[in-house]
Amino acid sequence: MSRDLVELAKRRGYFFQSASAYGGVSGFYTYGPEGATLKDNVEDAWRERFQVREGHREIDAPTVMPEPVFEASGHLDTFDDMLVECPECGESHRADHLIEDNTDIEEAESIPISEVEDLIADHDLRCPNCDAELAGVPVEDFNLMFETNIGPGDSSPGYLRPETAQGIFVEFPQLAEYARNQLPFGITQIGKAYRNEISPRKSIIRVREFTQAELEHFIDPTEDEPPLDRVADVELTLYSAEEQEKDDGEYVTKTVREAVDEGIVHEWIAYYLGVGKQWYESIGVDMDRFRYRQHLPGERAHYSADCWDAESEVDGDWIEITGYSYRSDYDLGKHDEYSDDDFTVFKQYDEPKVVERATVDPDMSYLGPEFGGAAGDIADALETLAERDRKAFDGEEVAVEVGGEEYAIPTEKTGFSVEEVKETGEHVLPHVVEPSIGIDRVVYTVLDHAYETDEIEGETRTRLALEPAVAPTFVGVFPLMDKDGMGEVAREITDDLRAAGLDVTYDDSGNIGRRYRRQDEVGTPFCVTVDYESLEDDAVTLRERDSTEQVRVPISDLDDLLADLQAGETTFAELDAPAPEQ
Ligand code: ATP
Ligand code: GLY
Repeated sequence: MSRDLVELAKRRGYFFQSASAYGGVSGFYTYGPEGATLKDNVEDAWRERFQVREGHREIDAPTVMPEPVFEASGHLDTFDDMLVECPECGESHRADHLIEDNTDIEEAESIPISEVEDLIADHDLRCPNCDAELAGVPVEDFNLMFETNIGPGDSSPGYLRPETAQGIFVEFPQLAEYARNQLPFGITQIGKAYRNEISPRKSIIRVREFTQAELEHFIDPTEDEPPLDRVADVELTLYSAEEQEKDDGEYVTKTVREAVDEGIVHEWIAYYLGVGKQWYESIGVDMDRFRYRQHLPGERAHYSADCWDAESEVDGDWIEITGYSYRSDYDLGKHDEYSDDDFTVFKQYDEPKVVERATVDPDMSYLGPEFGGAAGDIADALETLAERDRKAFDGEEVAVEVGGEEYAIPTEKTGFSVEEVKETGEHVLPHVVEPSIGIDRVVYTVLDHAYETDEIEGETRTRLALEPAVAPTFVGVFPLMDKDGMGEVAREITDDLRAAGLDVTYDDSGNIGRRYRRQDEVGTPFCVTVDYESLEDDAVTLRERDSTEQVRVPISDLDDLLADLQAGETTFAELDAPAPEQ
């Protein structure tokens, strides 16, 4: 973790540990004014790329959900990390991270607990806090969800959502109706997710409250195909599970089309890897420090059939910034099974089909006297059996199980028959393709990859070379001095540029060089200076952060010009010849 970046983040209002006046709590961070705006800009860029351009729609579901949701989703049983607690100082550690940090083993999350215990002993791993021996200390599964009670008392347990995705899945019946039952369709959600991480670390990279931006794309796997042409030529750096398992495994560079044709990546995942690559690049992630890594089989989440992570390199480590998962029909199937609602969509055939359907019409005047209170349930069981296994009605008697007891019913009393019926369609469980973006880790990456130092006039300068599209402060406006009317002109320009929708900071304190340095550290792409000449010629100096080049621009052109620079419709290099240095 770059100490310099974390210090800059605190000093310049990007992010800092929250509630530090009360000692702070590990795993909770506050975004300051610059950080909150950068995060908003990244989120807006995500909406534009993953939602608006793809034709998907966004929802906003609660962050607290009742226990049955997480029973169905599998999070209650399986959303665990490996915990080892130091017997001396009591500090908790993530066992897989201890192994990764102290051995050559990577992705230790995929190793079963018993082997993790052996590895701790074999490598004589010790508590990072007090150096006590951890060999022989049991490693346990620790569920990461924060539990709460809904309302007074404890009869209605709830959980803070560990992923925004479940808020989309549980509303699927309403969302499918909204989408007129037409697959494919995509629903996005952006908001807080909560995980009671065993050992939060690396500032905003591993926190207990974070922001996810997720897309759940519902598809019919038998006929829907992704619009691959849109991203077919995008080049992907891929590190497949197969390559990771080799001693000399390597990355391969493939276009989206090649990755699909060569069977390296599932076509739907490949499509979103292409979209994702374009997006990361547009917000300033350095593509030389970026890769897609496939999950190893033991590493995949309980719901995932295939998964690729987008990873960025920060401070020499690769961190996951997004999970691209093929969730198949796991989630909708579970909610269909556990809830009272129907999570299928009705797929209309082009032409009605004539099919054979087995039905029953049980003789209740027989079932009632013979089986009493169980008669109704037996009739229902016969109906289900006829749909599932018509051969069961071939013999003289049919066996059904109701309430753990087996009943034998004479077949002639079941009213079993097979009829030809016309069907206009069928119920299908959609499959789900999910890009799940961790906004905080993307924000950290963007800052880390933008952090640069160079030398200007013999002095070391630190700057954040943020992309104009996401920079939280877009322009700094300075009067050379706040006197002789220069302050008034600069304040008027500030108001006009704000009215034009730009994020502007006004600064008249300290010498002009210091003000430039301050904005360089904040990452402000452009600065405007009002000088004595401006009072004569109604023009100002426009300075670019990265090159420190300056040009003279008429005040009346400033708002249009800056808007074009922000939108990428013009570049600074295309502007007029540089003005003399101030
Ligand atoms: P890790 O292995 O690093 O714990 P994960 O595999 O559990 O991450 P996912 O469950 O795939 O992560 O979550 C999707 C995205 O949410 C991740 O790619 C990451 O960007 C983000 N994320 C997950 N956990 C955290 C966290 N504790 N703090 C910040 N972001 C997180
Ligand atoms: N929705 C993916 C995850 O958070 O695990």
